[in-house]
Amino acid sequence: MKAISIGLLGLGTVGSGVVQIIKKHQDKLMHQVGCPVVIKKVLVKDLNKERAVEIEEEQLTTNPDDILLDKEIDVVIEVIGGIDATKDYLITALRNGKHVVTANKDLMALHGTELLTVASEYGCDLFYEASVAGGIPILRSLVDGLASDRITQLMGIVNGTTNYILTKMSNEGRSYDEVLKEAQELGFAEADPTADVEGLDAARKMTILATLGFSMHIDLEDVKVIGISNVTEEDIRYGKQLGYTMKLIGHAHREGEKVEVSVAPTFLPNNHPLASVQNEYNAVYVYGEAVGETMFYGPGAGSLPTATAVVSDLVNVIKNLRLGVNGKSSVTPQYPKRLKDDSE
Ligand code: NAP
Ligand code: HSE
Repeated sequence: MKAISIGLLGLGTVGSGVVQIIKKHQDKLMHQVGCPVVIKKVLVKDLNKERAVEIEEEQLTTNPDDILLDKEIDVVIEVIGGIDATKDYLITALRNGKHVVTANKDLMALHGTELLTVASEYGCDLFYEASVAGGIPILRSLVDGLASDRITQLMGIVNGTTNYILTKMSNEGRSYDEVLKEAQELGFAEADPTADVEGLDAARKMTILATLGFSMHIDLEDVKVIGISNVTEEDIRYGKQLGYTMKLIGHAHREGEKVEVSVAPTFLPNNHPLASVQNEYNAVYVYGEAVGETMFYGPGAGSLPTATAVVSDLVNVIKNLRLGVNGKSSVTPQYPKRLKDDSE
């Protein structure tokens, strides 16, 4: 039985988690997909860096073509981050018939439509569950679990770094700068944490959530964004005295054809379900006309939680590969083809 060969782009926080899970859960993966899963090559920037996981020297490369053009590689997993160069890598991978799994919300929020179109043109899968809310299988829940409903509201904490900062400032009275540094050391923050603290990371995730949840095209540019960089320890303390907890809340709401998406620091009453979401945890509240209120909760950032979502996508890709095109067991969450509300 032929092994499935993986090319991994990136071996940082998430990439190391992916290697760990594939190694540790090899028996379970074998049982689920019916063949061994082998990481053939790993793209990194610095060949001499100390790695968090054991990896053979000859597996590492700094040349993307060693993965993108290798005919033996079946699936490319992208966990390097970034936009322009990474988009080119993924398009090259898809055009070379490779299935793709990515954790890159920056890319999916800006270029999701184009990438999904290329994937479909070349008959490849492109899965991106890890791009929103780390270990919570929220995208699959929106497009599969709630497929029959009409979702009208999405609200949530979708950035682990800022939730970690606000939690520690509120519970332990620690300073913004000190806790941000800690979130970076723990691997929750982006390489440049500006996107986290200025709300852009949450805005990108809300764009993907609203696009899939509402089946409508949502432009990142239309999302109103305020981050937490101007939130002071005093703001948090005063709110607390009055019975409120500050959270960075993403909100998407639709009425007819009108959609509003925003991200902003928000005081929630202490008894609000989102007020008790602590540290790097995320939660997404979904309102569907038929189902009513549902809530999804779990770790929103970090190596293993995020890698779980990546490897679960990989399992779906391999199941599809083994079943063949006509027997697809799991369908890539597709962006809508049309711009109008799907309700009429
Ligand atoms: P990271 O720790 O900074 O790791 C990035 C990896 O990519 C490193 O191994 C780095 O190589 C490699 N890399 C970066 N630029 C490269 C280039 N130009 N050429 C070759 N290799 C390059 O990042 P991360 O936290 O794992 O995040 C990866 C992706 O997952 C990002 O899109 C991020 O938004 C997303 N994500 C992260 C989390 C999280 O909790 N961290 C959660 C969900 C999604 P070196 O090791 O040699 O420097
Ligand atoms: N920097 C992101 C966060 C990683 O803190 O939520 C997970 O997407």
